[in-house]
Amino acid sequence: MNAGGMVGVPYRHDHAGALGPHGLDAAGFARHAKAAWQAVARLRELMARAAPPPLALAQRSDDVDALAGLAAELRESADDVVVLGIGGASLGAQTLCALAGGQGPRLTFVENIDPLTWDRLLARLELDRTVVLAVSRSGATPETVAQALLAAQALGRARARDRLVVLTGPGATPLRAIAENVGARTLDHDPDLSGRYSVLANVGLLPALIAGLDARAVRAGAAAALDAALGAEAAEACPPAVGAALNIGLARDKGIGTAVMMVYADALQPFSAWFVQLWGESLGKGGQGTVPVRALGATDQHSQLQLYLDGPRDKFVTLVVLDRAGTGPTIDIGPAGSSGVEYLGGRTLGDLMAAEQRATAEVLIGAGRPVRVIRLPRLDERSLGALLMHTMLETILAADLLGVNAFDQPAVELGKVLTKRYLAAG
Ligand code: PA5
Repeated sequence: MNAGGMVGVPYRHDHAGALGPHGLDAAGFARHAKAAWQAVARLRELMARAAPPPLALAQRSDDVDALAGLAAELRESADDVVVLGIGGASLGAQTLCALAGGQGPRLTFVENIDPLTWDRLLARLELDRTVVLAVSRSGATPETVAQALLAAQALGRARARDRLVVLTGPGATPLRAIAENVGARTLDHDPDLSGRYSVLANVGLLPALIAGLDARAVRAGAAAALDAALGAEAAEACPPAVGAALNIGLARDKGIGTAVMMVYADALQPFSAWFVQLWGESLGKGGQGTVPVRALGATDQHSQLQLYLDGPRDKFVTLVVLDRAGTGPTIDIGPAGSSGVEYLGGRTLGDLMAAEQRATAEVLIGAGRPVRVIRLPRLDERSLGALLMHTMLETILAADLLGVNAFDQPAVELGKVLTKRYLAAG
């Protein structure tokens, strides 16, 4: 059962392992897929009127040259680039930058406000060769404002002019005031773009370009996934609709309220963190939503898999795998003598990974746990762009099925208000 792999779309989406007695039966899947298909129709209508900003970005390229110029200048002038921002202001950029091979300046994402982390960071930075990029749509998030103030203080006014760049929404916000007062450059954050949907905007692409990645290929992959989804002729041929139908159908019909995203690539770990935020913050409203969990293969086979296989029947597992067979170094078993590792002889590390990801899918299905497999032939800007778009679409469609607004986060905003109130009150 395959809803992906259409020409030009760099991933395959295999959901056979989520169907059957342990998952959705044929009638249940048909019912939920029909509802998801109606959600796709509503999304198409919306796209025809005014595309939601995260989706419209996939079609754009006019802004890339200017971003690339700035990225080249910053790369040139820095050995360290520190990206400040939290949640959606950071996770998309982290996801993209994980692809980079490590050429160019060292990128450090500072999301949290742990004082020890900050002290250690400052102690190691050569400030004359450091660029700080502070990202916040609202320009008022306490963590980011505090970080930006500390960065401006550390850099000093003279350096901050060249070395502090602020990416923020419009209006008289604290972050904009900091930029203006120290003469730092500012870039505009689209006010209509929630952080967790901003990966294809300057928020994600500027750090990606600094890391030496091909921003156009990211957008091209996203556009390919978007076009394929909206151009599909049936729900079963539209992977994001299938994914939304499975997630919501399994939750409603089987009480499966946990969505596990298990990625079989170290470089996809930030993607799984980005997914957790996207899914959790977009769907968790009004008593609705399922709990997103991230896991890393093969590592978490030795940590979480026992629970997934034999614990409560409340998980829908998504495996994101790469075609790994034949890649990586070849294993010479000579030093092991005849100690029983002949199965590794002449195999590559990629062969071992390929066998493990296949085994995990099979044991999950064998244990009667619903699982689907998203397969990327390789991990590059295009395939990651497609995976990101797939995941945003699936989330938007799932929100439609749940009847919640995918793009707001009222509960988080309340937390920000209270934080400021408590600090102000001493
Ligand atoms: O997705 C979102 O909108 C949030 O996670 C925000 O990115 C996060 O709260 C940071 O907000 P801001 O960009 O306004 O600093």
